[in-house]
Amino acid sequence: MANRTFGILTSGGDCPGLNAAIRAVAKTAMGKYGMDIVAINNGYKGLVEGNMTQLDPATVSGILTEGGTILGTSREKPFKKRDKLIEEEGIDKIEEMKINCEKYNLECIVVLGGNGSQKTSSRLQKEGINVVGLPKTIDNDLYGTDVTIGFHTALDIATEAVDRLHSTAYSHNRVMILEVMGHKAGWLALFSGIAGGGDVIIIPEIPYEIDSITSHLVERANGGKAFSILVVAEGALSVEESKLGSKELKKKRKMEKSSTVGYNISEAISSHIKMDVRVSVLGYQQRGGAPSAYDRIIATRLGAAAAELVYTKNYGKMVAMENNLVTAVPLEEIAGKLKLVPCEHQLITDARNLGTCFGD
Ligand code: F6P
Repeated sequence: MANRTFGILTSGGDCPGLNAAIRAVAKTAMGKYGMDIVAINNGYKGLVEGNMTQLDPATVSGILTEGGTILGTSREKPFKKRDKLIEEEGIDKIEEMKINCEKYNLECIVVLGGNGSQKTSSRLQKEGINVVGLPKTIDNDLYGTDVTIGFHTALDIATEAVDRLHSTAYSHNRVMILEVMGHKAGWLALFSGIAGGGDVIIIPEIPYEIDSITSHLVERANGGKAFSILVVAEGALSVEESKLGSKELKKKRKMEKSSTVGYNISEAISSHIKMDVRVSVLGYQQRGGAPSAYDRIIATRLGAAAAELVYTKNYGKMVAMENNLVTAVPLEEIAGKLKLVPCEHQLITDARNLGTCFGD
């Protein structure tokens, strides 16, 4: 009798720790349970196109510390414009996926993904494709888990950037703005801002007022600290912007001279006070390179747990971290929800008590 077989894919933006998780799933499933695994290349796109190959145990050896994903990834959204595609081009990506699952004898697919990807996986489960989810994203905004694979490595990278900016900021008496990733959620900015001792932390969940930022900078300067560090999430919004609908905001962003929020804030500060301001946008470095020890550990724990769910046919769930324990949550319960930073988060209160400004 043929071995039980399942597929594995990585979907959405890459992050450190994906390979560690793939390795944990594969070693547990192949080694402990004697299952076969099919590597699905480039996310959901690979399942639609049938870009799949048998995963060799040797392929998952030596990848624990490697950044990126050996499977490749994409932002393919197979449900997007489904009806239109069927009607106009006779293509149904979901049917293609089902055909490929059958062709490769997959009883289930393991999806390493963030928000959008797990929303898709929940819909696939309803369509009859069995899924087990694994949470990853440097943004840490995936609902249903305390922490996602990749977040802590990105946090370490962002914190190092804050540290490095500190010495040059104080040497030149400058205001240094570090823009980190996080469109909707400010976890990276909040944590790296606190870990690096940022003076001002701006996150999308707390709309900012330029006056409040500049008052804080002036106060610091008057108190003898002529330099300051601002850590800003890429999705930060001013109070006025927070009142706009998504279409209006997009239009506003298109018309702005500055390319990013960090530069917007820099311009606004410079027009209010006489201080030398510089901006650094950290960008994709946050997603690259080797995973931290913490990420290797959670990727290993979550990956092993995902293999258990597959083996026990406990489909339609995403493995998750809750209070430092591994658990599983129904995909249906988390699909389409974002885990934002609660404004009353203990870390925010602590930082405020220490004198950190949140721009409000
Ligand atoms: O997936 C997380 C993320 O890193 C966001 O914070 C960022 O804005 C986005 O991905 C950008 O990714 P890409 O350019 O790959 O679409």
